[in-house]
Amino acid sequence: MGPITPVNEPSTTPRRPSPARESPPIIGRTNDLFSLGNCTVVITGGGRGLGIVLAGAVIEAGGDVVYLDLLPHAQRRRVGVCAKAGRPLQDASTHRTCRVDITDAASTEHILEQIAPDALSPNMTLRGLVICAGIQHWAPALDYSVELWRKMLDVNVIGTFTSAKHCARIFKEQNFPASIVLIASMSGHIANRGLTCTAYNSSKASVHRMCRSVAREWGQYDIRINTLSAGYIRTARTFCFCLIIGNDFHTWR
Ligand SMILES: NC(=O)c1ccc[n+]([C@@H]2O[C@H](COP(=O)([O-])OP(=O)(O)OC[C@H]3O[C@@H](n4cnc5c(N)ncnc54)[C@H](O)[C@@H]3O)[C@@H](O)[C@H]2O)c1
Repeated sequence: MGPITPVNEPSTTPRRPSPARESPPIIGRTNDLFSLGNCTVVITGGGRGLGIVLAGAVIEAGGDVVYLDLLPHAQRRRVGVCAKAGRPLQDASTHRTCRVDITDAASTEHILEQIAPDALSPNMTLRGLVICAGIQHWAPALDYSVELWRKMLDVNVIGTFTSAKHCARIFKEQNFPASIVLIASMSGHIANRGLTCTAYNSSKASVHRMCRSVAREWGQYDIRINTLSAGYIRTARTFCFCLIIGNDFHTWR
């Protein structure tokens, strides 16, 4: 039997010098890598809050936005976002606002079917969907009513699913790679002390699971789907709650 070499003994063999590292080829400017030129993105709940901010990012990256919202004044805000993102205001004419309730599956489908050919005609193919429409409600679990639970699931879960489903069908038919982002929440993973939102938290946990399930089914059509879990962000929706708890986010833990 030969000598046993201790496993952890440092090697005395001199290291070969590593080959000179070549810099990666320059493939373009960073902005070009993230460009959404020639793309239209639908944003549900784009009338205010996170939706309107995300719309600004899409516009800044060169994309067009179609806003689906219950709110009638999304149009006015949209022009403001366009101006802020440095795009000329006349560009806003290619951006549409559609007033729709995403819990009405038939109307949502109808509007999406109109948007796709409209987007194709100015060569701004429908390539993305951000599902931001959502509702929130605080109530102690012991008092939570069945009606409010149903409403929460109707908007945050079923509304999310039907918007994603109808858009995914269009993406599949168009045969272009496309992307869907579901705005979920940290509340789909954890429960925050002081935030009595059982129905909301459950609805967002469902969005996480929905994403994983449909990703398995729609990946074959080149449809990428992800969730984005926001932490607490002050918007019109959360503002009342900020007032109630005294605006001190750090004392919740
Ligand atoms: N603000 C936060 O701290 C936070 C944190 C985590 C996740 N989120 C999620 O981000 C999303 C946006 O939140 P926000 O704070 O901007 O809320 P928000 O209330 O300011 O905006 C939500 C938008 O969705 C629209 N909407 C609601 N129900 C709809 C329906 N049935 N059909 C069509 N449009 C509808 C509303 O009109 C509104 O414009 C929600 O899904 C929310 O759960 C927010």
